[in-house]
Amino acid sequence: MAFYSEKVIAHFKEPRNAGSLNDADGIGEIGDPTCGDFMRVFIRVEGNLITDVKYQIKGCPASIAVASAMTELAIGKDLDDALMLTDEDVVEALDGLPEEKLHCSVLGITGLRKAIQDHFMRYINRDSKGVK
Ligand code: FES
Repeated sequence: MAFYSEKVIAHFKEPRNAGSLNDADGIGEIGDPTCGDFMRVFIRVEGNLITDVKYQIKGCPASIAVASAMTELAIGKDLDDALMLTDEDVVEALDGLPEEKLHCSVLGITGLRKAIQDHFMRYINRDSKGVK
């Protein structure tokens, strides 16, 4: 039986950056809140820089640690570098996950990518309406 690393336990016990952002610049959702694991990611973007990330999550302890670690990796990155983050980066930041929990790592980066995608769509829509 595999065990969680000390980092996973630390992130689970004291999740970083949990919550939501008013007037977020992008929101990404993954999963289904009615029947299982779900995560909503909020990003604040200034220029090309991600200045804040928050999340709401319904999932197992590993997914909570993944969400927490993902925020620490993403905050302070520019959008291009944030898009280059991988599930493996999150797992590495947590000093690994038990084999049967590796799939939980998908929530974090996918949620982040969806929030960035939402930000780009807002940007495109704003520009197409002539807003400067
Ligand atoms: Fe479903 Fe971890 S998020 S088991």
